[in-house]
Amino acid sequence: MADDYFTYKGILFHPLSSNENDLNFIENEFQVLDDDIFNITYPKSGTTWLTEILSLIRSKGDPTWSKTVPNWERSPWIEVIDVAKRLNTSSERPPFMTSHLAKSIFPRSLVGSKAKVIYTVRNPKDVLVSLYYFAQMTTFYKDPESFEQFLELFLKGEVPFGSWFDHVNGWMELNGQSNFLLLCYDDLLQDLRGGVVKICKFLGQELDDETIDLVTKHSLFKNMKENKMANFSLLANYFDQSKSPFMRKGISGDWKNHFTVKQAEHFDHVYQERMNGFHWIFPWDKN
Ligand code: A3P
Repeated sequence: MADDYFTYKGILFHPLSSNENDLNFIENEFQVLDDDIFNITYPKSGTTWLTEILSLIRSKGDPTWSKTVPNWERSPWIEVIDVAKRLNTSSERPPFMTSHLAKSIFPRSLVGSKAKVIYTVRNPKDVLVSLYYFAQMTTFYKDPESFEQFLELFLKGEVPFGSWFDHVNGWMELNGQSNFLLLCYDDLLQDLRGGVVKICKFLGQELDDETIDLVTKHSLFKNMKENKMANFSLLANYFDQSKSPFMRKGISGDWKNHFTVKQAEHFDHVYQERMNGFHWIFPWDKN
């Protein structure tokens, strides 16, 4: 099995999921359409959660679609081999598309289009912890040698999809545009229903209170964990859930159970350096 990452424009990718030719096509030739809706995240920031919420909004709270069609078909990852080329020529577009691509290599045709972008961020320390377990259970990442080593790789951006800092700072350039919605995993945990209402408003979808309650209920962690079309149990070749479940804990602040004081200080130091000059304030910046 291929185990070496390759680099596209300075960003690491795993050859099992992407290749240079497709990434070049995505960046330069993929046609973003005005009706497109993109679910964009740095890995482990709530991607599958958003797909579930978007699916349930689309089906007006009815979970049938979410429980019969895998999430990667409901909202395909455009960077996965052949997906973008297939979507570009198909007369039918999926209702949503997902991507972990950095803004710098995202389809150029996004610029000037009315396509909607939902960008979800999560406390990067929790992203790192979630990614550390994910890297052990999936064939799409190399096995970490230790938490300490993985922390360094993460801070240097030497992991698939590159640096968290570049990703967030790149996409945040769109913040304030009417076709860009910024969501935070940690806020969704606090108030999922409020998040659903916000997403509906952004999409121009008017749902009544009862429907919003249904969307909220079916996208709760405990319900998604049971959903085979959301928990990746169908892809046993790629995800070994005996090592760590994909739907692992679904909480905020798990980093406190993993970082030593020294590691947290080091992380904060790099964070300050890399976020210096940017004016955004995320929930975790306030603690
Ligand atoms: P943990 O590993 O911290 O549990 P992604 O979908 O971007 O790969 O992110 C996966 C992370 O989101 C995992 O975090 C997973 O448990 C969490 N997650 C998925 N659905 C969730 C939900 N409904 N509520 C809370 N967390 C959820």
